[in-house]
Amino acid sequence: MKENIRVMIPEEKVDQRIKELAEQISRDYEGRTVHLICILKGSIFFTCELAKRITVPVTLDFMSVSSYGNDTKSSGVVKMVKDLDEPLEGKDVIVIEDIIDSGRTLNYLLENLSSRKPASLRLCTLLDKPERRIKDVKVDYTGFAIPDEFVIGYGLDYAQRFRNLPYIGVISFEEEN
Ligand code: IMP
Ligand code: MG
Repeated sequence: MKENIRVMIPEEKVDQRIKELAEQISRDYEGRTVHLICILKGSIFFTCELAKRITVPVTLDFMSVSSYGNDTKSSGVVKMVKDLDEPLEGKDVIVIEDIIDSGRTLNYLLENLSSRKPASLRLCTLLDKPERRIKDVKVDYTGFAIPDEFVIGYGLDYAQRFRNLPYIGVISFEEEN
């Protein structure tokens, strides 16, 4: 199968939008420290770019959950692969996600994290596919709402590849004769 990649959101547009989100977060959290939770692996690029542009003090922690196998379809099962290193109690937490699709991952995660008694808990996602929602999630900061297409790049993978593309692309497959 031949893989085709089409650019959906070019690098400059992603960077510009991340800058705007960082400005908004910096305003909203003025006088406070913001504790960013990066959801590995997909959110790593977004978290770094966002954190670099936030002007209030930032602390970081990492968590890994999986709901997808090596396919473009969700298995529907959310599994915690790596937990946080630090407690959340009393912290102003923002969960940083790459994309919200069915909402299953975030629904599970937000419930799990809120039980750890953070002072506040918000959600920031680079991409959102609202059409695909099965579980309700309240998103506080959204980079881009996108149509229902399988995207790669800026941290997002297809079978672990393409995470390092500096733009958001759509992957499609063509039979080779
Ligand atoms: P959800 O639990 O269905 O909302 O799925 C969220 C997770 O599925 C994301 O964190 C991604 O890892 C993965 N995912 C969903 N849609 C895409 C996509 O279009 N490209 C790559 N990964 C995706
Ligand atoms: Mg993910």
